[in-house]
Amino acid sequence: MKILVTGGTGYIGSHTVVELQNQGYEVIIADNLSNSHENVLDHIAEISGKRPEFEKLDFSDPQHTNNFFDKNLDIKGIIHFAAFKAVGESVKNPLMYYHNNLVSLMNILNNMSKHGIENIVFSSSCTVYGQPEKLPVSEDSPIQKAWSPYGNTKQISEDIIYDTLNADQRLKGIALRYFNPIGAHESAKIGELPLGVPNNLVPFITQTAIGIRDQLKVFGDDYNTPDGTAIRDYIHVVDLAKAHVIAVDRMISGKGKKAFEVFNLGTGNGYSVMEVIKSFEKVSGEKLNYKIVDRRPGDVEQVWADTTFANNELGWKAEKGLDEMMASAWKWEKALKEKESGL
Ligand code: WQD
Repeated sequence: MKILVTGGTGYIGSHTVVELQNQGYEVIIADNLSNSHENVLDHIAEISGKRPEFEKLDFSDPQHTNNFFDKNLDIKGIIHFAAFKAVGESVKNPLMYYHNNLVSLMNILNNMSKHGIENIVFSSSCTVYGQPEKLPVSEDSPIQKAWSPYGNTKQISEDIIYDTLNADQRLKGIALRYFNPIGAHESAKIGELPLGVPNNLVPFITQTAIGIRDQLKVFGDDYNTPDGTAIRDYIHVVDLAKAHVIAVDRMISGKGKKAFEVFNLGTGNGYSVMEVIKSFEKVSGEKLNYKIVDRRPGDVEQVWADTTFANNELGWKAEKGLDEMMASAWKWEKALKEKESGL
């Protein structure tokens, strides 16, 4: 059974491809390589023993997208990761985000209807909740006005999928709302490869510890939280990847209870920035150089998931704790340095 993974050479995509292959799925990756490298295919093959099929493709181009689907008629399901995802960049360049993220999705949905591809898993985000009034946040918590064009593209994309599935009853979809994916595969052959200065906390921590960055700036310690720093639900990228395979299985086996289902993918535990730093120092034995600075505009104070629905309905639960996540991130950063120094 062949699954198309758009954005499959990216961080979460590549980890999901490995887990799909581990479960016996055949995979074709289509990616425009705007934020990833083609050699990830070799690293996936080193882990799973199988190099996935690959096509370089920009899904925001309707003609190229149509040609791709006309050529690949054996696709049984799609996991759609391919999108721009930098919150700050989306504020500076909203039209680039709306065009790329929404037109790509619509081109894919058009081809699903045309070719009778019935299943899509969509990569969504906890940013749709904004700063929830009530914590932990469940799937029926109110969707708040997005804090960035990036977050808005996730909200609009869910609506586009919902309405498309409503119009074409053959189609089924699952939106997975990620909390904060971190860490790397235990082999340290794949992991997060931020281009340029990382926006996200964990790659900034490991790059500071390895000497690429001078100092981590901690954005604010005056939040209404136990240690004053902001709280997030960090989830190991492999736990997240496994949930995608379960979601594909669910749709293909017809176990879905509605045409369009939404699941929160978190651990149910919130950790503060300082707790993440302490965990890193514990597992790495490194003393991290950091400084408290002002809050980052657009950051929510605290958010973590109510994972009951995913636990019960998908039979899925995140297994890895914070220390294991941080240890895997550090192992990956050190492996990158060895690769760069040609060891
Ligand atoms: C985490 C915490 C920062 C960097 C992002 C995306 C979101 C989703 C998850 C995709 C915050 C603090 C960070 C730094 C810091 N991704 N921080 N210094 O913003 O929660 O969410 O990832 O769907 O869309 O926005 O993640 O890692 O940037 O920040 O103090 O150098 O770390 O203030 O409290 P965020 P993050």
